[in-house]
Amino acid sequence: MDTLRLNAGQVAEAAATLRRGGLLGIPTETVYGLGANGLDQEAVERIFQAKGRPQDNPLILHIPTADWLERYCEDIPAAAYALAERFWPGPLTMILKHKPVVPRAVTAGLDTVGMRCPAHPVCRAILTAADLPVAAPSGNTSGRPSPTNMADMLEDMEGKIDGIVDGGPCQVGVESTIIDLTEQPPRLLRPGGVTLEELEEVLGEVAVDPAVTRLMGAGEQPRAPGMKYRHYAPKAPVTVVRGDPADGARYIRRHLTDGDGVICFNEFVPLFEGHPVEPSGPKDDPAEQARRVFDALRYFDGTDVSHIWAQCPDPEGIGLAVSNRLNKAAGFHIVQA
Ligand code: TXA
Ligand code: MG
Repeated sequence: MDTLRLNAGQVAEAAATLRRGGLLGIPTETVYGLGANGLDQEAVERIFQAKGRPQDNPLILHIPTADWLERYCEDIPAAAYALAERFWPGPLTMILKHKPVVPRAVTAGLDTVGMRCPAHPVCRAILTAADLPVAAPSGNTSGRPSPTNMADMLEDMEGKIDGIVDGGPCQVGVESTIIDLTEQPPRLLRPGGVTLEELEEVLGEVAVDPAVTRLMGAGEQPRAPGMKYRHYAPKAPVTVVRGDPADGARYIRRHLTDGDGVICFNEFVPLFEGHPVEPSGPKDDPAEQARRVFDALRYFDGTDVSHIWAQCPDPEGIGLAVSNRLNKAAGFHIVQA
C-alpha cells in the first residue's frame, strides 16, 4: 500500500482514515504512535501485523479528554482523577480496570487497560475529530527504537500503514510514564515524561516495578508485558557508562577500540574524534537527552559500528526514563566509571 503523507492541517483526512479502520501514524508529545480505531478488533489486529508485535503485549487507548475514562474503565479510584487533573493532557498512562466494551485485541486478555490523554495539539485534534478512542503503540517495528519524528517512523512503516501525519519532532522524546492504579500503593511500570517525584507529590508512596531498574530473571513476569522484551535494541551491543560525567567520558576513551561508536554528553564530543559520535545533549540537561536518546540509538543502526558506548544521566527526574531506555538497549550491561 502507499503511505499517504498528511500535514498538521489535514485533521479531517486523518480522522477519516481512523474511522474507516485504517492504520495511521500519529504524532504525540512523547513518540510517534501507530494508531487505529480502538473499538475495532480487526483494525487493532492490523497494528500487531504492521509492527510484528507479540500478541500478548497490550495496547494503550488514547482519548481526547479525561471525562472519556468512564466509557472504557470501571472501579476508577480517586487517584486517577487527581492524576488527570494535574498531568493530563500529557505524557502519563494510567492502568485501570476496563469495561467489556474494550476489545480483547487491545487488552491482550488482561482485565486492565492503559489510558492516555496526549498533549500534542495535532493528536488531540485528530482524536476529537475521529470521536474514537485510538489504540496506539509506538510507531516502530517491534524491537527497534521508538520514532520521534515522521522520517524515523516511515523508515519502519512505509508501505505498511495507510497514512502518517507530520506533527514535527516530539517534545518529550521517550514514551509516556505508566502508572498502575489497580494496586496499592500505585506502581510505576515505565518511567517517562511525568517523573516519579511528580507522581509521589500526588500519590504519596509509589512502588517502582523491578523491571524499571534491572533485568528480569527467566522466571519473572514484569507487570507491563512489553517490559520483558529487549526493546530499543540497536544492532550493535551497547555498554552504558554511569557515574560522574567527566570520569565516564575518560573511562570510555580508555576502553574505546577501532570501530566503536559513542553516545556522549555534548561537552565530551571532542574526546572521541575519529569515531562515530552522537551527542546526547548537555550533561546537565536530561530533558534534551530524552529528546535525543532514540535518535542516537537509531543512527547507529545505519552504521557498521561493532560496539556502542553510552553515557547515562543519574536516574533522577526525567533522567530515570533516559537511563531506563539506555539500560534496556544495553540489556542492562552497565559499568560504573
Ligand atoms: O508515549 C506512549 O505511551 C506511546 C505513544 C504512542 O502514546 N505509546 C507507547 O505504546 O509507548 P507501547 O505499546 O509501545 O508501550 C505500551 C506499554 C507496553 O510495554 C505494554 O506492555 C504496556 O504499556 N501496557 C499496555 N497495557 C497494559 C496493561 N493493561 N497493563 C500493563 N501494561 C500495559
Ligand atoms: Mg513501544
